[in-house]
Amino acid sequence: MALLPLLKKRLGMSLFLPAHGRGRALPEEFKTLLRQRAGVWDLPELAEIGGPLETEGAVGQSQRDSASAMNADHCWYGVNGATGLLQAALLAVAQPGEAVLMPRNVHKSLIQACVLGDIKPLLYNVPYQTKQGHSVPPNHAWIQKVLAELPGNRGEIKAAVLVHPTYQGYANDPTEIIATLQEQGLSVLVDEAHGSHLAAAIDPDLPPSSLHCGADLVVHSLHKSAAGLAQTAVLWHQGQRVDPERVERCLGWIQTTSPSALLLASCESALQQLASPRGRRDLANRINEARLLKSRLIQSGVPLIDTQDPLRIVLHTGSAGISGVDADEWFIKNGLIAELPEPGTLTFCLGLSKHRDLHSKLTKAWNKLKQANQNQSAQTDFEAPPLPLVASPEVKLTTAWNAPNRVVTFEQSEGEVASELACPYPPGIPLLIPGERVDHARAVWLAKQSLLWSDVLPNAIKVMKI
Ligand SMILES: Cc1ncc(COP(=O)(O)O)c(C=O)c1O
Repeated sequence: MALLPLLKKRLGMSLFLPAHGRGRALPEEFKTLLRQRAGVWDLPELAEIGGPLETEGAVGQSQRDSASAMNADHCWYGVNGATGLLQAALLAVAQPGEAVLMPRNVHKSLIQACVLGDIKPLLYNVPYQTKQGHSVPPNHAWIQKVLAELPGNRGEIKAAVLVHPTYQGYANDPTEIIATLQEQGLSVLVDEAHGSHLAAAIDPDLPPSSLHCGADLVVHSLHKSAAGLAQTAVLWHQGQRVDPERVERCLGWIQTTSPSALLLASCESALQQLASPRGRRDLANRINEARLLKSRLIQSGVPLIDTQDPLRIVLHTGSAGISGVDADEWFIKNGLIAELPEPGTLTFCLGLSKHRDLHSKLTKAWNKLKQANQNQSAQTDFEAPPLPLVASPEVKLTTAWNAPNRVVTFEQSEGEVASELACPYPPGIPLLIPGERVDHARAVWLAKQSLLWSDVLPNAIKVMKI
């Protein structure tokens, strides 16, 4: 038996997702349910229970209650993560052959949905922080430049996607951007996988949830940014631009016919926790503790990158010449398990549970790591991807993905058309998508990325066989 013992194993400090911190921050009522006789809660869609697409039954009622508590028109719980709900939402806003405007830091699930639905992604660049190698959200002026750059035939573009906040917690107020996109006749789908807690609107210094900024469809990953079990998520819908019936048809197309009652109950309890006075008080406390922790870490000389989500700690390992990927191994050995290693940073997710002595453990481990690398000098700036402001793949995604292919290295990919995603995971943001032709600058850049990401991005890509 390989897996079962691992699930019981004591690990170091869990500074990774799910955000419930190995159960500690699960809602009390849900913990009580889990303590019942093992398995009693594993039920099918009995009439009384129902499912996310059924009006009758407890799930439908729970979804209506959650939507009303959030002032949304509808919501659907999901048991295949933000991934499943983002994919259904995208299929709902564009028909085969139509186009959707998407940021370059879009999660791979949405590109995969383009293949499923024969949808054309119009990819726009987002600002890039060269010091730490991160994409950050565009502001309104940036989006106006993107819109000015769009091809003549705007009629085929049906929707726009925003990522808010990013994995590392970068976010701004998307209200003006959403309004401008909608004025252009586009419906707006926001991937708010990392921002369920923003929807609690408990702190004026946190960025607002896009749900409160007029977005048509918003997806929350409840295990990433609320106290849901892995795979739990919710899709919110509001307004007249998107037809909720079409959303339901698309959900029915790709979701399992046997959704886990336990996961659906976890969706409900994670959302109830965000809405309850106790849950909101606990969240406010975690946020205040996180802010204090960050300022103490900075005072102790630990190099942190400032993002807008207090619950993400982004360690700038590159400032000491250390890759975040290498630093991750070191921290694991020192009992601190992070979430997102990247070439220049290592992101720890504080989640919703308390962490005792984190300041001293993190400071000690970082000082030891720095000591062991004292001869290194700070990393040089990362290169932004060499891409035009807006571009779409030369070959249809569906054609490129299904085409016979051969494997080449990135150096050899110049002039070739990609047949698959090049995508380090995490964070799951594609660097190249099927159908894109690689030019010289991109081939050189991809080869460098492969060195920077080491095993997470092997130097090999399937390209279309001609
Ligand atoms: C920005 C973003 N969107 C969507 C997802 C997919 O979320 P899930 O793992 O809940 O399917 C991720 C996962 O890492 C993500 O980072």
